Amino acid sequence: MPNIERNILITGGAGFIGSHLVRLFVRRYPNYRIVNLDALTYAGNLDNLSDVASQSNYLFRKGDITDVAFLEAIFKEFDIDSVIHLAAESHVDRSISDPMAFVRTNVMGTANLLQTATKYWRNTQNNLFYHISTDEVYGSLGKTGLFTEKTAYDPNSPYAASKAASDHFVRAYAQTYDLPVVISNCSNNYGPNQFPEKLIPLFINNIKENEELPLYGDGQYTRDWLYVLDHVEAIDTVFHQGKLGETYNIGGFNEWKNIDLVRVLCQLMEEKLQRPKGSAEALICFVKDRPGHDRRYAIDANKIKKELGWEPRVTFEEGLSKTIDWYLANAAWLENVVSGAYKNYYKKQYLT
Ligand code: NAD
Ligand code: TYD
Repeated sequence: MPNIERNILITGGAGFIGSHLVRLFVRRYPNYRIVNLDALTYAGNLDNLSDVASQSNYLFRKGDITDVAFLEAIFKEFDIDSVIHLAAESHVDRSISDPMAFVRTNVMGTANLLQTATKYWRNTQNNLFYHISTDEVYGSLGKTGLFTEKTAYDPNSPYAASKAASDHFVRAYAQTYDLPVVISNCSNNYGPNQFPEKLIPLFINNIKENEELPLYGDGQYTRDWLYVLDHVEAIDTVFHQGKLGETYNIGGFNEWKNIDLVRVLCQLMEEKLQRPKGSAEALICFVKDRPGHDRRYAIDANKIKKELGWEPRVTFEEGLSKTIDWYLANAAWLENVVSGAYKNYYKKQYLT
């Protein structure tokens, strides 16, 4: 193994974004030791990392960020100098049915990590605590306007509130204990390995299975979509070049109303599956709205573009096409993650 320059703890590395980030760091930085800490909840899956599992600069530890003794042992065992914190409960619908799970992991877990880092880094230098957060902390936009780094926090869902609380704790630890921190707030990600409870992978799976496509409310809700590999490139950029204490908004400059996005997705799927035109679109059904549903998210990602030189590279057309291809080619992965108790969950809750 080459000389180790950094010992980086990535939390939530078995999840959707975390697994792409772990892969990028393990391959791009052979001199960094990457310790992936993940509780392997329903959303964590080590199959996402089978291609890097045997790399000498990669290690996995199963554990929970709500377990302080476990965190302290990890910092000690690997002499952790930097943290990129992604572990979280991440789905808004689940936060409505089980908000306390979000308080536990997203608020308590983040506070535990901050406390452990503060304690462990008391007499060390070149440390960084990087919190991966969401644009949902800013609440909902009207027809116009964009979220900037100066937009006031105004979270609406229990998920958004838990991420806002964790961002506040990160800032408080920087102000109070001089912890070196940086935060990024990103828009909706899509791409391979995303658990099929979020809009795009859920609908890809449902089209494939000829099942209904449950659009909440009037389907006119708007999100800004970013390909996951663009997000992990942005994380790499902020990790290496971000200014301490700063926040960076990350987005795709790519706003879509849900109904328009779903229509494009249906057309692409019909082509790829060689099904009759209109057959996938016929599966769309409008269902009861999500309570507290944010109308519109849109990110102004000009700060990271101007100051750090990052911008998205993958067009939506290309990203969506690659994503569909990945799900169609990885039927076993999909079947594995939706089998068992979960399969009934979203149908029972939302197709009423
Ligand atoms: P995900 O749900 O796919 O993965 C979360 C991972 O965290 C899983 O591997 C899970 O096992 C792990 N985890 C959950 N609770 C844990 C605990 N208590 N201890 C240790 N590990 C635990 O999530 P994702 O979509 O990859 O999101 C990753 C991060 O990025 C989250 O912090 C999320 O808030 C943020 N984010 C996500 C998006 C998005 O569109 N997905 C957008 C912006 C920000
Ligand atoms: P989602 O992927 O859950 O992300 P978030 O809620 O974090 O933005 O949802 C994206 C959009 O799609 C959001 O407006 C809710 C909507 N949606 C549906 O209409 N039907 C669904 O089954 C899901 C999961 C989401």
